[in-house]
Amino acid sequence: MQVTVRGRRRHYRTVTFDAKANVVELIEQRLLPHEFTFFRAENFRETALAIRDMIVRGAPAIAATAAYGMAQGAQAFRGRDSKKFARHINLVFEALKNARPTAVDPVNAMLQVRAAMKSGETVEEQQAIALAAAEHFANEDVEHCAAIGRHGAKLIKNGTRVLTHCNAGWLATVDIGTATAPIYEAQKRGRKFHVFCDETRPRCQGASLTAWELAQQGVSHQVIADNAAGHLMQRGEIDLVIVGSDRTLGRTGEVANKIGTYTKAVLAKRHGIPFYVAIPLSTIDWNLKRGFDIPIEERADHEVLGAWGVVDNPSTKNSKAKVGKRAYVRIANSTSTARNPGFDVTPAELVTGIITPVGIFKPDELWKRRMELIGM
Ligand code: MRU
Repeated sequence: MQVTVRGRRRHYRTVTFDAKANVVELIEQRLLPHEFTFFRAENFRETALAIRDMIVRGAPAIAATAAYGMAQGAQAFRGRDSKKFARHINLVFEALKNARPTAVDPVNAMLQVRAAMKSGETVEEQQAIALAAAEHFANEDVEHCAAIGRHGAKLIKNGTRVLTHCNAGWLATVDIGTATAPIYEAQKRGRKFHVFCDETRPRCQGASLTAWELAQQGVSHQVIADNAAGHLMQRGEIDLVIVGSDRTLGRTGEVANKIGTYTKAVLAKRHGIPFYVAIPLSTIDWNLKRGFDIPIEERADHEVLGAWGVVDNPSTKNSKAKVGKRAYVRIANSTSTARNPGFDVTPAELVTGIITPVGIFKPDELWKRRMELIGM
């Protein structure tokens, strides 16, 4: 993705690996859109913390981070004892896997790295293979997103008004994005359309990340309050919904995504608006049999009880807050607590289609046509 920072336009990836220094380099997403900086995770534990603390977020982006984290952990091992190395790799795998529970992409990515490592005999060979496999995963994610764009672009015509939820953009992947891929491809093809970004409380990834991306890309867009989508749908102002996913069940077509996705799917059904989910293949969970069994991350209640932003206009002269500085403001009464599930599960019958790198599938076709998907 091209980003203009201090007047210079440059291409960036959300996640990269500095092999010489054995460091995972990440765009620091918690500070966007106000500051564009990088975080360097110096070891696999720091990489896991960066995922947990949402310096990097979005299922495919945390998958690439976890894959690089495996390579980083492998690289840091000293010695030639294969058994000790295998134990160390298990530890790295578990630390990265436990950072965030709902997205299946990090697990799929790390399993790919681990499977590739089996072809190496010595520790040294396995270390080199782990890095190559992580790079392969990251590059494949970019290819998958580009293919999602090519398949999904036909859904966006001149004048289409698209609603998206959370950030399934290039910041949520290595590059391009999933839900945004058809948007960017349609733009490339010269189409004129408009995007509504749900603000996506409590962390506001729609307002802070998707809107920033679309602004960088010159796509016509507006941020709406999460509660506004029903009203706009009722007035005929939304034609299409495209969202991403953290885990889509291959057996049932159920879709786990950012909290509030289910609400939008119900509303879309009520108003006869097509509801699409855009995913790379790493987002498919072929094992789980019921959406109810997807682990749903429960996050800290301060996210709901307040909000982060930059100080725009301190209300009193004595305020310690400085204009332009990032600050947390408490919204709720100080004695109230909150419940904060991070994701929900949308039933397959509410999903019009799943845009994959292979093509657009009905949710129940994923399982029937799994050989096309797995064999890709
Ligand atoms: O909590 P987040 O910001 O990691 O949630 C991200 C989402 O819900 C995205 O829609 C999902 O990861 C798909 S990203 C292509």
